[in-house]
Amino acid sequence: MKEEKRSPDLKSGKGEKDYSKYFDFSDAKVLAEEDGKTTYRIKGRTVQINSRPDFKEGKRRGKESIEVHYDFQVPKDMQTIGEGKLYHLTTYGCQMNEHDSETMRGLLEEMGYTATEDRREADIILLNTCAIRENAEDKVFGELGHLKHLKLEKPSLILGVCGCMSQEEAVVGRIMKKHPFVDLIFGTHNLHRLPDLLREAMFSKEMVIEVWSKEGDIVENLPKKREGIKAWVNIMYGCDKFCTYCIVPFTRGKERSRRPEDILAEVRDLARQGFKEIMLLGQNVNAYGKDFEDLEYRFGDLMDDIRKIDIPRVRFTTSHPRDFDDHLIEVLAKKGNLMEHIHLPVQSGSSEILKKMSRKYNREQYLELVRKIRIAIPDAILTTDIIVGFPGETEEQFDETLSLVREVGFDSAYTFIYSPREGTPAAGMADDITEETKKKRLAQLNETLNEFSRHSNDILKDQVVEVLVEGESKMNPEILSARTRTNKLVHFAGPKGLIGQLVQVKITEPQTWLLRAELVEEPALRRA
Ligand code: 5AD
Ligand code: SF4
Repeated sequence: MKEEKRSPDLKSGKGEKDYSKYFDFSDAKVLAEEDGKTTYRIKGRTVQINSRPDFKEGKRRGKESIEVHYDFQVPKDMQTIGEGKLYHLTTYGCQMNEHDSETMRGLLEEMGYTATEDRREADIILLNTCAIRENAEDKVFGELGHLKHLKLEKPSLILGVCGCMSQEEAVVGRIMKKHPFVDLIFGTHNLHRLPDLLREAMFSKEMVIEVWSKEGDIVENLPKKREGIKAWVNIMYGCDKFCTYCIVPFTRGKERSRRPEDILAEVRDLARQGFKEIMLLGQNVNAYGKDFEDLEYRFGDLMDDIRKIDIPRVRFTTSHPRDFDDHLIEVLAKKGNLMEHIHLPVQSGSSEILKKMSRKYNREQYLELVRKIRIAIPDAILTTDIIVGFPGETEEQFDETLSLVREVGFDSAYTFIYSPREGTPAAGMADDITEETKKKRLAQLNETLNEFSRHSNDILKDQVVEVLVEGESKMNPEILSARTRTNKLVHFAGPKGLIGQLVQVKITEPQTWLLRAELVEEPALRRA
Protein backbone atom coordinates (compact mmCIF):
# COMPACT_ATOMS: atom_id res chain seq x y z
CA MET A 1 0.00 0.00 0.00
CA LYS A 2 1.22 3.46 -0.87
CA GLU A 3 1.02 4.91 2.63
CA GLU A 4 3.04 2.07 4.15
CA LYS A 5 5.78 2.72 1.66
CA ARG A 6 5.78 6.39 2.49
CA SER A 7 5.63 6.24 6.26
CA PRO A 8 9.24 5.25 6.90
CA ASP A 9 10.38 8.12 4.64
CA LEU A 10 8.21 10.47 6.55
CA LYS A 11 9.57 9.33 9.87
CA SER A 12 13.19 9.60 8.98
CA GLY A 13 12.79 12.58 6.73
CA LYS A 14 15.27 10.89 4.36
CA GLY A 15 15.08 12.00 0.78
CA GLU A 16 12.74 14.79 1.86
CA LYS A 17 15.28 17.54 1.51
CA ASP A 18 13.10 20.53 2.13
CA TYR A 19 10.48 18.92 4.29
CA SER A 20 12.85 17.68 6.98
CA LYS A 21 14.52 21.09 7.02
CA TYR A 22 11.35 22.43 8.60
CA PHE A 23 10.36 19.44 10.60
CA ASP A 24 12.41 16.71 12.17
CA PHE A 25 10.45 13.49 12.22
CA SER A 26 13.04 11.63 14.26
CA ASP A 27 11.08 12.25 17.45
CA ALA A 28 7.69 11.53 15.90
CA LYS A 29 5.94 8.58 17.51
CA VAL A 30 3.51 6.54 15.43
CA LEU A 31 0.38 6.15 17.56
CA ALA A 32 -1.81 4.33 15.07
CA GLU A 33 -1.99 3.26 11.45
CA GLU A 34 -5.39 2.58 9.98
CA ASP A 35 -6.95 2.77 6.48
CA GLY A 36 -3.86 4.50 5.10
CA LYS A 37 -4.04 7.19 7.81
CA THR A 38 -1.21 7.54 10.28
CA THR A 39 -1.50 9.27 13.61
CA TYR A 40 1.70 10.71 15.07
CA ARG A 41 2.54 12.33 18.35
CA ILE A 42 4.93 15.15 17.50
CA LYS A 43 6.13 17.79 19.93
CA GLY A 44 3.11 17.37 22.20
CA ARG A 45 0.60 17.61 19.31
CA THR A 46 -1.28 14.69 17.80
CA VAL A 47 -1.24 14.86 14.03
CA GLN A 48 -3.29 12.68 11.74
CA ILE A 49 -1.75 12.45 8.30
CA ASN A 50 -4.11 11.00 5.70
CA SER A 51 -1.78 11.96 2.88
CA ARG A 52 0.84 14.63 2.54
CA PRO A 53 2.29 16.71 -0.29
CA ASP A 54 5.12 15.24 -2.31
CA PHE A 55 6.44 17.16 -5.34
CA LYS A 56 8.24 14.18 -6.81
CA GLU A 57 5.08 12.12 -6.69
CA GLY A 58 3.12 15.04 -8.16
CA LYS A 59 5.49 15.37 -11.10
CA ARG A 60 5.21 11.71 -12.05
CA ARG A 61 2.34 12.08 -14.47
CA GLY A 62 0.85 8.75 -15.41
CA LYS A 63 -1.42 7.99 -18.32
CA GLU A 64 -4.21 6.73 -16.07
CA SER A 65 -7.50 8.22 -17.16
CA ILE A 66 -9.41 10.60 -14.97
CA GLU A 67 -12.84 9.48 -13.88
CA VAL A 68 -15.73 11.90 -13.67
CA HIS A 69 -18.17 11.62 -10.76
CA TYR A 70 -21.70 13.01 -10.72
CA ASP A 71 -22.88 11.52 -7.44
CA PHE A 72 -21.39 13.76 -4.76
CA GLN A 73 -23.42 14.23 -1.60
CA VAL A 74 -22.56 15.81 1.73
CA PRO A 75 -22.51 12.82 4.14
CA LYS A 76 -25.79 12.53 6.08
CA ASP A 77 -24.21 13.12 9.50
CA MET A 78 -22.67 16.39 8.27
CA GLN A 79 -25.75 17.88 6.59
CA THR A 80 -26.90 19.85 9.64
CA ILE A 81 -23.66 20.06 11.60
CA GLY A 82 -23.27 23.78 10.87
CA GLU A 83 -26.75 24.94 11.83
CA GLY A 84 -26.47 28.04 13.97
CA LYS A 85 -22.73 28.21 13.30
CA LEU A 86 -20.63 30.66 11.30
CA TYR A 87 -17.71 30.41 8.86
CA HIS A 88 -15.19 32.91 7.58
CA LEU A 89 -13.25 32.23 4.38
CA THR A 90 -10.36 34.34 3.07
CA THR A 91 -9.15 33.85 -0.49
CA TYR A 92 -5.68 34.73 -1.77
CA GLY A 93 -4.48 34.61 -5.36
CA CYS A 94 -6.07 34.01 -8.72
CA GLN A 95 -9.58 33.53 -10.06
CA MET A 96 -9.16 29.76 -9.88
CA ASN A 97 -8.79 30.12 -6.11
CA GLU A 98 -11.77 32.48 -5.96
CA HIS A 99 -13.80 29.88 -7.76
CA ASP A 100 -12.59 27.09 -5.45
CA SER A 101 -13.74 29.28 -2.58
CA GLU A 102 -17.21 29.41 -4.13
CA THR A 103 -17.21 25.63 -4.02
CA MET A 104 -16.10 25.58 -0.38
CA ARG A 105 -18.79 28.13 0.50
CA GLY A 106 -21.31 25.94 -1.29
CA LEU A 107 -20.19 22.90 0.71
CA LEU A 108 -20.18 24.76 4.02
CA GLU A 109 -23.65 26.16 3.41
CA GLU A 110 -24.96 22.69 2.50
CA MET A 111 -23.72 21.69 5.95
CA GLY A 112 -25.80 24.49 7.47
CA TYR A 113 -23.04 27.05 8.13
CA THR A 114 -23.63 30.76 7.52
CA ALA A 115 -20.96 33.20 6.32
CA THR A 116 -19.68 35.95 8.60
CA GLU A 117 -17.42 38.91 7.93
CA ASP A 118 -16.29 38.97 11.56
CA ARG A 119 -13.59 36.40 12.28
CA ARG A 120 -14.04 36.74 16.04
CA GLU A 121 -17.48 35.16 15.89
CA ALA A 122 -16.60 32.41 13.39
CA ASP A 123 -16.68 28.70 14.28
CA ILE A 124 -14.62 27.82 11.20
CA ILE A 125 -11.92 29.97 9.62
CA LEU A 126 -10.42 28.84 6.31
CA LEU A 127 -7.50 30.43 4.47
CA ASN A 128 -7.53 29.50 0.78
CA THR A 129 -3.91 30.23 -0.10
CA CYS A 130 -1.76 31.10 -3.13
CA ALA A 131 1.81 29.88 -3.74
CA ILE A 132 2.71 31.71 -6.94
CA ARG A 133 5.21 34.12 -5.35
CA GLU A 134 6.90 34.35 -1.99
CA ASN A 135 5.08 37.51 -0.90
CA ALA A 136 1.74 35.70 -1.34
CA GLU A 137 2.98 33.08 1.14
CA ASP A 138 4.35 35.65 3.57
CA LYS A 139 0.90 37.21 3.86
CA VAL A 140 -0.60 33.88 4.90
CA PHE A 141 2.06 33.13 7.50
CA GLY A 142 1.54 36.65 8.90
CA GLU A 143 -2.20 36.00 9.08
CA LEU A 144 -1.67 32.71 10.92
CA GLY A 145 0.28 34.66 13.54
CA HIS A 146 -2.78 36.89 14.10
CA LEU A 147 -5.19 33.99 14.19
CA LYS A 148 -3.35 32.23 17.00
CA HIS A 149 -5.01 34.53 19.57
CA LEU A 150 -8.49 33.71 18.30
CA LYS A 151 -7.75 30.01 18.59
CA LEU A 152 -6.47 30.45 22.16
CA GLU A 153 -9.59 32.40 23.14
CA LYS A 154 -11.92 29.90 21.52
CA PRO A 155 -10.45 26.39 21.41
CA SER A 156 -13.50 24.97 19.61
CA LEU A 157 -12.65 27.14 16.57
CA ILE A 158 -11.57 25.05 13.55
CA LEU A 159 -8.76 26.78 11.74
CA GLY A 160 -7.96 25.40 8.30
CA VAL A 161 -5.34 26.13 5.65
CA CYS A 162 -6.10 24.99 2.11
CA GLY A 163 -5.28 25.87 -1.49
CA CYS A 164 -1.95 25.98 -3.33
CA MET A 165 0.37 26.52 -0.35
CA SER A 166 -0.90 23.33 1.28
CA GLN A 167 0.37 21.42 -1.75
CA GLU A 168 3.95 22.35 -0.81
CA GLU A 169 5.96 20.02 1.40
CA ALA A 170 7.89 22.83 3.04
CA VAL A 171 4.76 24.79 3.90
CA VAL A 172 3.09 21.84 5.61
CA GLY A 173 6.29 21.22 7.55
CA ARG A 174 6.50 24.85 8.60
CA ILE A 175 2.87 24.98 9.76
CA MET A 176 3.40 21.82 11.83
CA LYS A 177 6.43 23.34 13.44
CA LYS A 178 5.53 26.99 13.87
CA HIS A 179 1.74 27.05 13.83
CA PRO A 180 0.70 23.83 15.57
CA PHE A 181 -2.66 25.37 16.55
CA VAL A 182 -3.88 24.89 12.95
CA ASP A 183 -6.52 22.13 12.92
CA LEU A 184 -6.75 21.21 9.28
CA ILE A 185 -4.56 21.31 6.17
CA PHE A 186 -5.93 20.17 2.82
CA GLY A 187 -4.93 20.82 -0.77
CA THR A 188 -6.42 21.66 -4.14
CA HIS A 189 -7.36 18.16 -5.30
CA ASN A 190 -9.68 17.11 -2.50
CA LEU A 191 -12.12 20.00 -1.95
CA HIS A 192 -14.96 17.49 -2.03
CA ARG A 193 -13.50 15.88 1.09
CA LEU A 194 -14.15 19.06 3.13
CA PRO A 195 -17.16 17.67 5.07
CA ASP A 196 -15.26 14.48 6.00
CA LEU A 197 -12.11 16.37 6.92
CA LEU A 198 -14.05 18.80 9.12
CA ARG A 199 -15.60 15.84 10.90
CA GLU A 200 -12.15 14.35 11.51
CA ALA A 201 -10.73 17.65 12.76
CA MET A 202 -13.72 18.35 15.04
CA PHE A 203 -14.04 15.00 16.66
CA SER A 204 -10.47 13.76 16.80
CA LYS A 205 -9.02 17.05 18.10
CA GLU A 206 -5.91 16.20 16.09
CA MET A 207 -4.30 18.31 13.44
CA VAL A 208 -5.58 16.64 10.26
CA ILE A 209 -3.46 16.75 7.11
CA GLU A 210 -4.77 15.49 3.81
CA VAL A 211 -2.98 16.74 0.72
CA TRP A 212 -3.09 14.61 -2.42
CA SER A 213 -0.04 14.66 -4.65
CA LYS A 214 -1.92 12.88 -7.41
CA GLU A 215 -4.82 14.90 -8.68
CA GLY A 216 -7.51 12.23 -8.53
CA ASP A 217 -10.82 12.43 -10.33
CA ILE A 218 -13.12 15.24 -11.42
CA VAL A 219 -16.17 15.67 -9.18
CA GLU A 220 -18.82 17.41 -11.26
CA ASN A 221 -21.73 18.13 -9.00
CA LEU A 222 -20.18 20.03 -6.12
CA PRO A 223 -22.34 22.88 -4.84
CA LYS A 224 -21.14 26.41 -5.65
CA LYS A 225 -22.12 29.66 -4.04
CA ARG A 226 -22.11 32.29 -6.78
CA GLU A 227 -23.07 35.92 -6.40
CA GLY A 228 -23.64 38.90 -8.68
CA ILE A 229 -24.00 38.88 -12.45
CA LYS A 230 -20.66 37.28 -13.42
CA ALA A 231 -19.80 33.61 -12.98
CA TRP A 232 -16.58 31.66 -13.21
CA VAL A 233 -16.68 28.32 -14.99
CA ASN A 234 -13.81 25.88 -14.80
CA ILE A 235 -13.12 24.20 -18.11
CA MET A 236 -9.99 22.35 -17.06
CA TYR A 237 -7.73 21.81 -14.11
CA GLY A 238 -3.94 21.72 -13.79
CA CYS A 239 -1.05 22.53 -16.11
CA ASP A 240 1.45 20.35 -17.97
CA LYS A 241 3.70 23.14 -19.25
CA PHE A 242 6.27 23.20 -16.42
CA CYS A 243 7.62 26.67 -17.12
CA THR A 244 10.80 26.60 -15.08
CA TYR A 245 9.79 29.37 -12.63
CA CYS A 246 6.29 28.16 -11.96
CA ILE A 247 4.93 26.17 -9.07
CA VAL A 248 1.46 25.68 -10.57
CA PRO A 249 2.12 22.31 -12.27
CA PHE A 250 3.03 21.03 -8.80
CA THR A 251 0.23 22.63 -6.82
CA ARG A 252 -2.53 22.07 -9.36
CA GLY A 253 -1.51 18.75 -10.90
CA LYS A 254 -1.69 17.50 -14.45
CA GLU A 255 -4.05 18.84 -17.10
CA ARG A 256 -7.55 17.43 -16.91
CA SER A 257 -10.32 18.79 -19.11
CA ARG A 258 -13.95 18.74 -18.11
CA ARG A 259 -16.24 17.03 -20.61
CA PRO A 260 -17.76 19.50 -23.10
CA GLU A 261 -21.33 18.41 -22.34
CA ASP A 262 -20.81 19.19 -18.64
CA ILE A 263 -19.37 22.66 -19.36
CA LEU A 264 -22.11 23.51 -21.89
CA ALA A 265 -24.81 22.34 -19.45
CA GLU A 266 -23.32 24.54 -16.72
CA VAL A 267 -23.16 27.59 -19.00
CA ARG A 268 -26.77 27.06 -20.16
CA ASP A 269 -27.84 26.77 -16.56
CA LEU A 270 -26.03 29.99 -15.65
CA ALA A 271 -27.75 31.74 -18.57
CA ARG A 272 -31.12 30.49 -17.31
CA GLN A 273 -30.31 31.78 -13.83
CA GLY A 274 -29.73 35.24 -15.32
CA PHE A 275 -25.94 35.55 -15.16
CA LYS A 276 -24.71 38.09 -17.70
CA GLU A 277 -21.08 37.16 -18.09
CA ILE A 278 -19.06 34.01 -17.71
CA MET A 279 -15.31 33.69 -17.34
CA LEU A 280 -13.96 30.34 -18.51
CA LEU A 281 -11.08 29.30 -16.31
CA GLY A 282 -8.03 27.13 -16.79
CA GLN A 283 -4.30 27.47 -16.14
CA ASN A 284 -3.80 27.06 -19.87
CA VAL A 285 -7.20 27.11 -21.55
CA ASN A 286 -5.61 26.59 -24.97
CA ALA A 287 -4.65 23.07 -23.95
CA TYR A 288 -8.32 22.26 -23.39
CA GLY A 289 -9.24 18.86 -24.78
CA LYS A 290 -5.67 17.71 -25.46
CA ASP A 291 -6.15 15.01 -22.84
CA PHE A 292 -9.33 13.54 -24.37
CA GLU A 293 -8.57 10.11 -25.74
CA ASP A 294 -11.97 9.52 -27.32
CA LEU A 295 -12.71 12.96 -28.70
CA GLU A 296 -11.24 15.53 -31.12
CA TYR A 297 -12.62 18.60 -29.42
CA ARG A 298 -10.47 21.57 -28.50
CA PHE A 299 -10.83 25.04 -27.06
CA GLY A 300 -11.90 26.56 -30.40
CA ASP A 301 -14.71 23.99 -30.65
CA LEU A 302 -15.81 24.75 -27.11
CA MET A 303 -15.88 28.51 -27.75
CA ASP A 304 -17.84 27.94 -30.96
CA ASP A 305 -20.46 25.99 -29.01
CA ILE A 306 -20.60 28.47 -26.12
CA ARG A 307 -21.04 31.27 -28.67
CA LYS A 308 -24.46 29.82 -29.50
CA ILE A 309 -25.67 29.98 -25.90
CA ASP A 310 -27.73 33.01 -24.94
CA ILE A 311 -25.40 34.56 -22.38
CA PRO A 312 -24.39 38.16 -23.17
CA ARG A 313 -20.65 37.96 -22.50
CA VAL A 314 -18.02 35.24 -22.52
CA ARG A 315 -14.39 35.68 -21.48
CA PHE A 316 -11.56 33.26 -20.81
CA THR A 317 -8.30 33.16 -18.94
CA THR A 318 -5.50 32.32 -19.17
CA SER A 319 -3.91 31.57 -22.52
CA HIS A 320 -0.58 30.06 -23.46
CA PRO A 321 0.80 31.40 -26.77
CA ARG A 322 2.19 28.00 -27.74
CA ASP A 323 -1.24 26.33 -27.87
CA PHE A 324 -3.21 29.28 -29.29
CA ASP A 325 -4.34 27.83 -32.62
CA ASP A 326 -5.78 29.25 -35.85
CA HIS A 327 -9.16 27.66 -35.31
CA LEU A 328 -9.55 29.52 -32.02
CA ILE A 329 -8.66 32.82 -33.73
CA GLU A 330 -11.24 32.08 -36.43
CA VAL A 331 -13.92 31.41 -33.83
CA LEU A 332 -13.06 34.49 -31.72
CA ALA A 333 -13.32 36.62 -34.87
CA LYS A 334 -17.03 35.72 -35.03
CA LYS A 335 -17.43 37.92 -31.91
CA GLY A 336 -21.10 38.00 -30.78
CA ASN A 337 -20.87 37.09 -27.11
CA LEU A 338 -17.11 36.34 -27.40
CA MET A 339 -15.31 39.46 -26.18
CA GLU A 340 -12.45 41.03 -28.14
CA HIS A 341 -10.01 40.88 -25.24
CA ILE A 342 -7.20 38.33 -25.16
CA HIS A 343 -4.95 37.92 -22.15
CA LEU A 344 -1.79 36.44 -23.64
CA PRO A 345 1.05 36.10 -21.11
CA VAL A 346 4.42 36.67 -22.80
CA GLN A 347 6.65 36.67 -19.66
CA SER A 348 9.69 38.07 -21.52
CA GLY A 349 10.61 39.66 -24.85
CA SER A 350 13.93 37.85 -25.06
CA SER A 351 14.11 34.52 -26.88
CA GLU A 352 17.00 33.39 -24.69
CA ILE A 353 15.11 34.09 -21.50
CA LEU A 354 11.98 32.46 -22.92
CA LYS A 355 14.10 29.39 -23.58
CA LYS A 356 15.41 29.36 -20.02
CA MET A 357 11.84 29.75 -18.83
CA SER A 358 10.89 26.78 -21.04
CA ARG A 359 8.00 28.73 -22.53
CA LYS A 360 8.23 26.74 -25.81
CA TYR A 361 7.92 29.78 -28.11
CA ASN A 362 10.31 32.57 -29.01
CA ARG A 363 9.92 36.32 -29.48
CA GLU A 364 9.24 36.02 -33.22
CA GLN A 365 6.62 33.31 -32.77
CA TYR A 366 4.83 35.42 -30.18
CA LEU A 367 4.86 38.46 -32.46
CA GLU A 368 3.61 36.34 -35.35
CA LEU A 369 0.68 35.16 -33.20
CA VAL A 370 -0.12 38.76 -32.29
CA ARG A 371 -0.04 39.68 -35.98
CA LYS A 372 -2.47 36.87 -36.85
CA ILE A 373 -4.84 37.92 -34.06
CA ARG A 374 -4.71 41.55 -35.19
CA ILE A 375 -5.51 40.64 -38.80
CA ALA A 376 -8.48 38.48 -37.79
CA ILE A 377 -9.76 40.76 -34.99
CA PRO A 378 -8.45 44.30 -35.64
CA ASP A 379 -10.12 45.78 -32.55
CA ALA A 380 -8.88 43.08 -30.16
CA ILE A 381 -7.27 44.31 -26.96
CA LEU A 382 -4.23 42.41 -25.77
CA THR A 383 -3.05 42.22 -22.16
CA THR A 384 -0.22 40.17 -20.75
CA ASP A 385 1.89 38.92 -17.82
CA ILE A 386 5.59 39.79 -17.61
CA ILE A 387 8.32 38.68 -15.20
CA VAL A 388 11.43 40.84 -14.70
CA GLY A 389 14.68 39.75 -13.12
CA PHE A 390 14.55 36.10 -14.15
CA PRO A 391 17.93 34.47 -13.30
CA GLY A 392 20.61 35.74 -15.67
CA GLU A 393 18.43 38.39 -17.36
CA THR A 394 20.85 40.95 -18.82
CA GLU A 395 20.14 44.63 -19.44
CA GLU A 396 19.91 43.88 -23.19
CA GLN A 397 17.44 41.06 -22.60
CA PHE A 398 15.31 43.33 -20.43
CA ASP A 399 15.43 45.96 -23.21
CA GLU A 400 14.03 43.31 -25.54
CA THR A 401 11.04 43.02 -23.19
CA LEU A 402 10.55 46.78 -23.35
CA SER A 403 10.77 46.76 -27.14
CA LEU A 404 8.27 43.90 -27.38
CA VAL A 405 5.87 45.83 -25.14
CA ARG A 406 6.16 48.80 -27.51
CA GLU A 407 5.80 46.66 -30.60
CA VAL A 408 2.65 44.89 -29.39
CA GLY A 409 1.15 47.90 -27.60
CA PHE A 410 -0.44 45.96 -24.75
CA ASP A 411 -3.38 47.68 -23.15
CA SER A 412 -2.27 46.65 -19.70
CA ALA A 413 -0.20 43.98 -18.00
CA TYR A 414 0.40 42.20 -14.72
CA THR A 415 4.08 42.65 -14.00
CA PHE A 416 6.13 40.73 -11.47
CA ILE A 417 9.59 40.53 -10.02
CA TYR A 418 10.85 36.96 -10.34
CA SER A 419 10.37 35.02 -7.11
CA PRO A 420 12.22 31.69 -6.71
CA ARG A 421 9.85 28.84 -5.85
CA GLU A 422 11.28 25.85 -4.04
CA GLY A 423 11.17 22.68 -6.10
CA THR A 424 11.03 24.44 -9.51
CA PRO A 425 13.98 24.21 -11.95
CA ALA A 426 14.61 27.98 -11.93
CA ALA A 427 15.10 27.92 -8.16
CA GLY A 428 18.31 26.02 -8.88
CA MET A 429 19.61 28.74 -11.28
CA ALA A 430 21.82 31.48 -9.89
CA ASP A 431 19.50 34.34 -8.90
CA ASP A 432 22.19 36.87 -9.75
CA ILE A 433 20.29 40.11 -10.23
CA THR A 434 20.23 42.56 -7.36
CA GLU A 435 16.96 43.55 -5.72
CA GLU A 436 17.65 47.14 -6.74
CA THR A 437 18.01 46.22 -10.42
CA LYS A 438 14.86 44.12 -10.31
CA LYS A 439 12.89 47.02 -8.81
CA LYS A 440 14.33 49.47 -11.33
CA ARG A 441 13.38 47.22 -14.23
CA LEU A 442 9.87 46.74 -12.86
CA ALA A 443 9.38 50.52 -12.54
CA GLN A 444 10.69 51.13 -16.05
CA LEU A 445 8.44 48.44 -17.48
CA ASN A 446 5.37 49.78 -15.70
CA GLU A 447 6.11 53.27 -16.93
CA THR A 448 6.24 52.05 -20.53
CA LEU A 449 3.04 50.05 -20.10
CA ASN A 450 1.21 53.01 -18.56
CA GLU A 451 1.93 55.12 -21.62
CA PHE A 452 0.19 52.54 -23.78
CA SER A 453 -2.76 52.16 -21.37
CA ARG A 454 -3.27 55.90 -21.40
CA HIS A 455 -2.94 56.13 -25.16
CA SER A 456 -5.41 53.31 -25.81
CA ASN A 457 -7.90 54.97 -23.44
CA ASP A 458 -7.37 58.43 -24.94
CA ILE A 459 -8.40 57.30 -28.40
CA LEU A 460 -11.79 56.30 -26.99
CA LYS A 461 -12.65 59.92 -26.16
CA ASP A 462 -16.11 60.86 -27.49
CA GLN A 463 -16.74 57.33 -28.75
CA VAL A 464 -19.96 55.51 -27.91
CA VAL A 465 -19.33 52.01 -26.56
CA GLU A 466 -21.39 49.18 -25.14
CA VAL A 467 -20.84 48.41 -21.46
CA LEU A 468 -22.19 45.85 -19.02
CA VAL A 469 -23.25 47.60 -15.81
CA GLU A 470 -21.79 45.62 -12.93
CA GLY A 471 -22.81 47.62 -9.86
CA GLU A 472 -22.31 50.81 -7.93
CA SER A 473 -18.85 52.34 -7.82
CA LYS A 474 -17.11 51.55 -4.54
CA MET A 475 -16.21 55.18 -3.89
CA ASN A 476 -19.49 56.83 -4.83
CA PRO A 477 -22.86 55.03 -4.86
CA GLU A 478 -24.26 57.70 -7.20
CA ILE A 479 -21.94 56.42 -9.91
CA LEU A 480 -22.32 53.11 -11.75
CA SER A 481 -19.39 50.86 -12.52
CA ALA A 482 -19.32 49.04 -15.84
CA ARG A 483 -16.98 47.26 -18.28
CA THR A 484 -16.51 47.60 -22.02
CA ARG A 485 -16.30 44.50 -24.21
CA THR A 486 -12.53 44.91 -23.99
CA ASN A 487 -12.77 44.80 -20.17
CA LYS A 488 -11.99 48.47 -19.52
CA LEU A 489 -13.49 49.97 -16.39
CA VAL A 490 -16.09 52.70 -17.00
CA HIS A 491 -17.80 55.01 -14.48
CA PHE A 492 -20.95 56.98 -15.28
CA ALA A 493 -23.98 58.44 -13.53
CA GLY A 494 -27.20 56.47 -13.99
CA PRO A 495 -30.10 54.75 -12.26
CA LYS A 496 -29.37 51.56 -10.24
CA GLY A 497 -31.99 49.75 -12.31
CA LEU A 498 -29.37 49.51 -15.05
CA ILE A 499 -27.24 47.08 -13.02
CA GLY A 500 -26.94 43.83 -14.97
CA GLN A 501 -27.83 45.47 -18.29
CA LEU A 502 -25.93 46.29 -21.45
CA VAL A 503 -26.06 50.00 -22.20
CA GLN A 504 -24.40 52.50 -24.51
CA VAL A 505 -22.22 55.18 -22.99
CA LYS A 506 -20.18 58.03 -24.43
CA ILE A 507 -16.61 58.28 -23.14
CA THR A 508 -16.07 61.80 -21.85
CA GLU A 509 -12.88 61.68 -19.80
CA PRO A 510 -10.35 58.89 -20.37
CA GLN A 511 -7.77 58.30 -17.62
CA THR A 512 -5.02 55.66 -17.32
CA TRP A 513 -7.08 53.12 -15.34
CA LEU A 514 -10.59 54.40 -15.80
CA LEU A 515 -12.91 55.83 -18.44
CA ARG A 516 -15.42 58.40 -17.26
CA ALA A 517 -18.54 58.42 -19.41
CA GLU A 518 -22.16 59.48 -19.75
CA LEU A 519 -25.20 57.38 -20.50
CA VAL A 520 -26.31 57.68 -24.11
CA GLU A 521 -29.61 55.86 -24.10
CA GLU A 522 -31.43 53.47 -21.85
CA PRO A 523 -31.55 49.81 -22.92
CA ALA A 524 -35.32 49.67 -23.43
CA LEU A 525 -35.01 52.33 -26.14
CA ARG A 526 -32.03 50.72 -27.77
CA ARG A 527 -33.69 47.32 -27.96
CA ALA A 528 -37.03 48.66 -29.19
N1 5AD B 1 7.89 34.65 -9.94
C1 5AD B 1 7.29 35.74 -10.44
N2 5AD B 1 6.17 35.68 -11.17
C2 5AD B 1 5.63 34.46 -11.41
N3 5AD B 1 4.55 34.08 -12.10
C3 5AD B 1 4.44 32.74 -12.03
N4 5AD B 1 5.46 32.24 -11.31
C4 5AD B 1 6.21 33.29 -10.91
C5 5AD B 1 7.40 33.41 -10.15
N5 5AD B 1 8.02 32.35 -9.65
C6 5AD B 1 3.68 35.02 -12.82
C7 5AD B 1 3.64 34.71 -14.31
C8 5AD B 1 2.27 34.12 -14.49
C9 5AD B 1 1.48 34.86 -13.45
C10 5AD B 1 0.20 34.23 -13.07
O1 5AD B 1 2.36 34.91 -12.34
O2 5AD B 1 3.76 35.92 -15.02
O3 5AD B 1 1.75 34.31 -15.79
FE1 SF4 C 1 2.77 28.19 -14.78
FE2 SF4 C 1 3.62 28.09 -17.32
FE3 SF4 C 1 1.54 26.53 -16.52
FE4 SF4 C 1 1.22 29.19 -16.71
S1 SF4 C 1 1.67 27.78 -18.41
S2 SF4 C 1 0.55 27.87 -15.01
S3 SF4 C 1 3.20 29.96 -16.11
S4 SF4 C 1 3.66 26.39 -15.84
